[in-house]
Amino acid sequence: MFVTQLSLADFRSWEFAELDLAPGVTTLTGRNGQGKTNLVEAVEYLASLGSHRVASDAPLIRFGAPRAIVRARVQAGLDDTRALALEVEIHAGRPNKASINRGPLRRVRDILGALRVVLFSPEDLALVKGDPSDRRRFIDDLLTQRWPRLAGVRADYDRVLRQRSMLLKSLSGRRGPTSPDAAATLEVWDEQLARLGGEIVAARLQTLAEMAPHVAEAYLAIAPNNNDATVAYKSSSLGLDPGPGEAVERPVLESTRDEVAAQLRSRMAARRNEEVARGVTLVGPHRDDLVLSLGHLPAKGYASHGESWSFALSLRLGAYALLRADGVEPVLILDDVFAELDEVRRDRLAERIAGAEQVIITAAVASDVPASLAGRRWTIHEGTVTPEAAGGSTGSPAKDDDG
Ligand SMILES: Nc1ncnc2c1ncn2[C@@H]1O[C@H](COP(=O)(O)OP(=O)(O)O)[C@@H](O)[C@H]1O
Ligand SMILES: [Mg+2]
Repeated sequence: MFVTQLSLADFRSWEFAELDLAPGVTTLTGRNGQGKTNLVEAVEYLASLGSHRVASDAPLIRFGAPRAIVRARVQAGLDDTRALALEVEIHAGRPNKASINRGPLRRVRDILGALRVVLFSPEDLALVKGDPSDRRRFIDDLLTQRWPRLAGVRADYDRVLRQRSMLLKSLSGRRGPTSPDAAATLEVWDEQLARLGGEIVAARLQTLAEMAPHVAEAYLAIAPNNNDATVAYKSSSLGLDPGPGEAVERPVLESTRDEVAAQLRSRMAARRNEEVARGVTLVGPHRDDLVLSLGHLPAKGYASHGESWSFALSLRLGAYALLRADGVEPVLILDDVFAELDEVRRDRLAERIAGAEQVIITAAVASDVPASLAGRRWTIHEGTVTPEAAGGSTGSPAKDDDG
């Protein structure tokens, strides 16, 4: 799958931008702050309805503008000329809108799955060094790309979690037994949390099982020193607490959503008093984590800077390989990553992605990108995108008031 056209209006720093893209490698170079990441972030947004840089939509709208518009034309494959025109309108303070082939979608999230993107950026170091929430977001975004229906399950889970936690909080201040009404309401939330949570956890386990070999393989291919990169699942709700280097056992990885739901139910029953006393939901996928190890050491806190980079990159390459194995070639975006890699890793990465259907690379310094990945090179300067060879692209920046 590849993007043939990208156009933006009032997205980030871009008042207007239009780019013709092609399969193969495209490299966008330009000084820092010229809007390179903003461009690829727009592609990421169409694929995930989110951004790796911000948790909310507001910063994506050009400062002072009422809304942002991102449009792309996406072709299914090199031999598959089916094309989709995707559009999302991002509004501050009222619901966004989306359309496919000019037909408005009932829900914005129905656009998910139409474009698949794997983006690797310096922020991904947080996958190794950051909090569990960073790793949960990584795996959950992958679930949504594989099975767009899960976007709805995630949204429902978040809502149930909020409401259940609110009820627990209101109960936690009280003395004496819980009223029958409150107990009945809690039971309703328990059931939904178990059902939705079961679905999320089972999908995560399956995805992890299928992705882990790709991650290990990518690590060996990228990192200069051979080491086993493992990804395991940690969940106190399921009694999973793998030590460094330990993988999760097959039968667990193959748990069905009903099996996981049953475990969540019994876990909630066991921890009911504690949950009421503390006023928090202690059971469910929102408490889980991925455990990353190199050999017999945890990656977090032990891996060197270079190893952490290689691991983060391997996670993205693993996700890429998994989506590809699912039968769709995602668009691969490497945002400002070559500057962070030494020459060995640069060359190994270049070799690995050379055959990808579409790769979009951004770099401040063109020579950081290995020559073998030359592809089409464009320069971004003061809001204009200039192709080094012939090609169509125009753009105009958000004007600075003081010039
Ligand atoms: N919502 C916005 N409105 C206007 N300008 C923005 C907005 N968000 C980011 N910018 C500007 O975009 C620039 C950063 O663009 P970015 O794509 O990150 O640059 P780079 O080329 O280094 O990747 C900054 O100057 C920032 O002020
Ligand atoms: Mg950037």
